[in-house]
Amino acid sequence: MALLRSSLLTFFVLSVFLSLPVSMATDDPLLSFLQCVQSAALRSMGPTATDFDPKLYVDLPLKTDLPATISAFNSLPRQSGTIPISDFNYFLKQFFDEAGSDLVYAKPVDFEPEPEGFLVKVENEVMRGWALEVHAIWKSLSRRVSDAVKTRPERHTLLYLPGTVIVPGSRFREVYYWDSYWVIRGLLASKMYDTAKAVVFNLVSLIETHGHVLNGARTYYTNRSQPPLLSSMVMEIYMRTGDVELVKGVLPALLKEHSFWVSDIHQVTIQDQEGRKHCLSRYQARWYQPRPESATIDEELSLKLSTPSEKDAFYHEIASAAESGWDFSSRWMRNSSDLTTTATTSIIPVDLNTFIFKLEQDISTFAKIIGDNSTSQKFIEVSKSRKAAIRSLLWNPNLGQWVDYWLDKHDAYQGVYSWNPDSQNSKTFASNFVPLWLLAHYPDQLTEEYDEELIINSLKKSGLIREYGIATSLSDTGQQWDFPNGWAPLQHMIIEGLASAHSKEARQLAESIAINWIKTNFAAYKKTGAIHEKCNVESCGEFGGGGEYKPQTGFGWTNGVILALLEEFGWPRDRNITC
Ligand SMILES: *[C@@H]1O[C@H](CO)[C@@H](O)[C@H](O)[C@H]1NC(C)=O
Ligand SMILES: *[C@@H]1O[C@H](CO)[C@@H](O)[C@H](O)[C@H]1NC(C)=O
Ligand SMILES: *[C@@H]1O[C@H](CO)[C@@H](O)[C@H](O)[C@H]1NC(C)=O
Repeated sequence: MALLRSSLLTFFVLSVFLSLPVSMATDDPLLSFLQCVQSAALRSMGPTATDFDPKLYVDLPLKTDLPATISAFNSLPRQSGTIPISDFNYFLKQFFDEAGSDLVYAKPVDFEPEPEGFLVKVENEVMRGWALEVHAIWKSLSRRVSDAVKTRPERHTLLYLPGTVIVPGSRFREVYYWDSYWVIRGLLASKMYDTAKAVVFNLVSLIETHGHVLNGARTYYTNRSQPPLLSSMVMEIYMRTGDVELVKGVLPALLKEHSFWVSDIHQVTIQDQEGRKHCLSRYQARWYQPRPESATIDEELSLKLSTPSEKDAFYHEIASAAESGWDFSSRWMRNSSDLTTTATTSIIPVDLNTFIFKLEQDISTFAKIIGDNSTSQKFIEVSKSRKAAIRSLLWNPNLGQWVDYWLDKHDAYQGVYSWNPDSQNSKTFASNFVPLWLLAHYPDQLTEEYDEELIINSLKKSGLIREYGIATSLSDTGQQWDFPNGWAPLQHMIIEGLASAHSKEARQLAESIAINWIKTNFAAYKKTGAIHEKCNVESCGEFGGGGEYKPQTGFGWTNGVILALLEEFGWPRDRNITC
């Protein structure tokens, strides 16, 4: 009741004094207010401020209650609507703690400077020394959520999580969903099993509260997820530890997550040319407003659109692209030079359906492990249907690739789309080869029905494999999930698939991509002292650019992939480590 009264009061204060634009009014009073602070900051700093990051303002923890903070904000002096920068900065200092201070450093309980059995195949001394430095970064990315968040959640956009948290780094101060898979791959190479399990149980707690894993552990991420890799995290930990209790503890959450991805908002029915109906999933956020963490950017972009409904549709598509993890990319854009043509929800993505297929296989495996034969059998059937759908709708035999599928409203009748070969997106993206990843995990599922050699030749001829890694796409659009950027997760999934292929040539290709990727990350680290979130695959030691924020360092998934690849391939004494 007290909380309700305070929200009503807040809403009243907000709406009266700030005459809030409708598009900014989330139903969360703290978030709405922080978005006001965000746009006030932009005005105070001026439109040319180079160090303005909108996310900073929605991450600020309140020092005192919201109504008191709002009235202080409202009494700040304004010159034609703009708060002088010195007054603004003083207000920030007085009323907010630093962004990220609600996560406190916490040394992981299972961190050893040089764990027993660490990267035994890495013989080269310099490489080994560097790998130990990368391993040591886990200490600086490890946090726990402060007690303040638990006792006064209404002062934080950060969500409470019970266990040790590993953050990606820099502006990504909180836990992210799909990043955590590669963080865990690295933690396992670092023999940090307890930390890896804590990461999993944090994500499980989000499913228990929200019905799915959130994009990240913030209130502003509640209405979207990210590529579903929780079951894969559990599988990796189980393979190393044989921990049946872990499997038992997580299975109900995985079943809940599966229903989220096959629910109405995500699932689409498509009839193939033989008249068989299939179901596949797409990304779709339940969000029709600017993303709070980038609201000033989204609003600026939306100026190009004329009607409120066009703007809302744009916000929805942008949030859905964020759900895909590929934010942003020509992959989701009708016109690759115009971000407002992003149409994520009109696309059936090949990687998403690969991940859900793996989720279904993993659920079946886990159910069997704990003796639940009927669930196990059910999910074998469920995964078979998805496999058939992928084969029938997303496979392109002429290209030797799996491709995304564009949904066209004109092909839909009573909610069922008719498959049209021209609606396959034949453009080249690294995601077209993500199903190869299954070779490392459920090889029979792939080799039974596909010609491995055809796919591997297609990859080799695709133009994606560059000197220092696999490019995200072939289009240089200025978006960060496009050429010439290479991202650690995409390298890892494709390398892992190739390394499990039958042909020796494919396995050699996997190793050479891995070696070049490690070399370029090493060179960038020597040059800048940091590990980067993405690399430019055209140039040794150069990190990637583009997109809506400055390139970030840290960096959870890149570290994880370096350690996982070094564990897999090793580094002989006499192999060069420079490009
Ligand atoms: C988030 O989703 C819930 C449930 O669908 C909905 O009620 C709520 O309005 C959404 N929030 C926003 C800000 O769109
Ligand atoms: C794509 O967008 C750009 C930039 O807005 C525009 O100049 C161009 O005409 C668009 N192309 C098409 C085919 O609409
Ligand atoms: C489940 O199947 C296994 C063999 O796959 C069998 O040994 C076991 O008895 C079955 N359990 C139940 C409860 O039916």
